[in-house]
Amino acid sequence: MGSGLTLGIETSCDETAAAVIKDGTEVLSNIVLSQIDIHQKYGGVVPEIASRHHIEAMFPVINEALAEAGVTLDDIEVIAVAYGPGLVGSLLVGVAAAKALAFATGIPLVGVNHIEGHIYANLLGGQEVKAPLVCLTVSGGHTDLLLIPRFGEYEILGRTRDDAAGEAFDKVARVLGLPYPGGPQIEKLAQGGNREAIFFPRGLLEKDNYDFSFSGLKTAALNFLNQAKQKGEEVHLPDFAASFQWAIIDVLTQKLMLAAEEHRVRQVVLSGGVAANGTFRNHVREEAGKRGMELLYPPVHLCTDNAAMIASAGYFSYLAGRRSDNALNAVANLRLGDY
Ligand code: KG4
Ligand code: ZN
Repeated sequence: MGSGLTLGIETSCDETAAAVIKDGTEVLSNIVLSQIDIHQKYGGVVPEIASRHHIEAMFPVINEALAEAGVTLDDIEVIAVAYGPGLVGSLLVGVAAAKALAFATGIPLVGVNHIEGHIYANLLGGQEVKAPLVCLTVSGGHTDLLLIPRFGEYEILGRTRDDAAGEAFDKVARVLGLPYPGGPQIEKLAQGGNREAIFFPRGLLEKDNYDFSFSGLKTAALNFLNQAKQKGEEVHLPDFAASFQWAIIDVLTQKLMLAAEEHRVRQVVLSGGVAANGTFRNHVREEAGKRGMELLYPPVHLCTDNAAMIASAGYFSYLAGRRSDNALNAVANLRLGDY
């Protein structure tokens, strides 16, 4: 019997993260070192700068995760690392660190898909997740609607054809002069705003289509701001933010509900950074409730990038017999279900 302890490592974007979890579900430590302050002045993540900071922070963050969990490397049963999708230079730092540790200690290594990690964040809150389920993963890089018939099996029902939902939040926030990441900023600004004040277009709402498109919405929002500026009119920012946010939430929720009904699942699951949005969670909970479905989502701090979710996905992958070796490499555009 192993210790059931997994060391997770995550460096796919601008967070250097390490975590120790037990039995795939219990978080003993979860260290996330954000580089947001460094990237904020550029209005987004600068890959080269991110990689350099990952190199400096990686081992201190791993040591902190072990120390906070009160364990040493000798206690760890498996090392799990995100190897894609993401920024290749950033991913490489985590992958190299994980391979070095595994090689030096003989601890088994498992490469994890970052998106799969977001889904497994739902197992960390103590809630019971039961397949089959429909999952919507919405982050800065992805908008994927998935059917999960059994754990570890993914059928992609739809995905974005252009911008990811989080990316739309970030781009519009940037034009408003709000700091990166834009999602939480727009959510805050939208409080007290009227979501019906401005009608923004919803892309691809046909019934038989599970793909998403947010570039039309983004353009409409930017045009709205430009036209107001040209006419010298002042934009009521809470109304603008609430209407823009609502257009995204409305489309995401409608498609999620259609998919859940078609596949007759009892549970729907949210994951990824945009799932931290309170208005989104409340609306999906209400719509799921009307249909007798249960909605699950991770606690807010586990929605955005972290290593506990990577450790969870990695542990279950390890139990299923998967192992990675020293040839493991970063894959920038890794797809769900590819190993
Ligand atoms: O999952 P994540 O941390 O990183 C990626 O894998 O992309 O997601 C980050 C994205 C950003 O686009 C950010 O603006 C968005 O999630 N986000 C939110 C909220 N919190 C984070 N979007 C809307 N409302 C929020 N509260
Ligand atoms: Zn992510």
